[in-house]
Amino acid sequence: MDKYSELIESIDNYIYKNFTAVDEYQKKVYESMTYSLFSGGKRVRPILGILTYKALSGSDDYEEILPFAVAVELIHTYSLIHDDLPAMDDDDIRRGKPTNHRVYSEAIAILAGDGLLNMSAEVLSKEIETYDDLAKVKKAIKAMKYIFTASGVHDLIGGQVIDIEYNDDMNYDICEIMYKLKTAALIRASVVSAGIIAGASEEEIASLEEFANCVGIAYQIEDDILDEELDQKKEKNTMLKFKTKEELLSRIEDLTIRANNELDSLEYDTTELKEFAELLMNRGK
Ligand code: IPE
Ligand code: IPE
Ligand code: MG
Ligand code: MG
Repeated sequence: MDKYSELIESIDNYIYKNFTAVDEYQKKVYESMTYSLFSGGKRVRPILGILTYKALSGSDDYEEILPFAVAVELIHTYSLIHDDLPAMDDDDIRRGKPTNHRVYSEAIAILAGDGLLNMSAEVLSKEIETYDDLAKVKKAIKAMKYIFTASGVHDLIGGQVIDIEYNDDMNYDICEIMYKLKTAALIRASVVSAGIIAGASEEEIASLEEFANCVGIAYQIEDDILDEELDQKKEKNTMLKFKTKEELLSRIEDLTIRANNELDSLEYDTTELKEFAELLMNRGK
């Protein structure tokens, strides 16, 4: 990931910019939000957004996409804090460190998650307010709508609901739907919002959606393979309950080919984006 350190620095600086001075009353919740935002997240989603924007706009200046890329990272961070709570996955460790509610309290972790979700809308609306050009405002609202729909009940939250509700009646197909919702949705949000801001056509957006879904599903399957032992201990519902590791590796290969085909169908230089996506789809190698 060293290659992406400059992008990560820009993402981190943009996040810091939005943490303004706080008074005594907000200190705790800010501390808890900062803890999860800066505890070793890989920044995969914002990097994907920036690389998509760079490919489609043909520009190296990616400042325009930063608020959207960061908004998705804020939503991702909230989703992980809530995902670890005792009422959900009840996890004590994330990224090798104690989970948010273990360091702070359950109540503060819930509020920090709420605060991050809210902050994503604050960041975007604050930015859009500065735009003078109506066409630019419209594109930004469309991208914002896409991000919040992908985080909503039909996508990310819907996927988390499947995870909680389906236990013994889980099967491979439902599992893949769950991955498309709980994991691919935010990856899609990053990629497609970047496409919208760069001015992609409806047809190009459809290709980007398909590309991001493939990347997202493969990313989660890789996660299952990497976390196999831990997941077994927790009796977690993952694809390894229904398919062998070899079968899953071959599924990842299919998804990689499909993702690459979608990028190849676009008339842009997507070399950097393709390289990063392939890295995500083959993390275990
Ligand atoms: C964790 O995502 C949850 C999944 C959907 C696999 P990441 O592995 O991208 O989270 P970070 O890097 O810790 O933020
Ligand atoms: C997390 O899924 C996905 C979201 C938070 C939306 P998991 O529960 O499978 O991921 P980890 O293993 O906790 O990172
Ligand atoms: Mg979970
Ligand atoms: Mg979890």
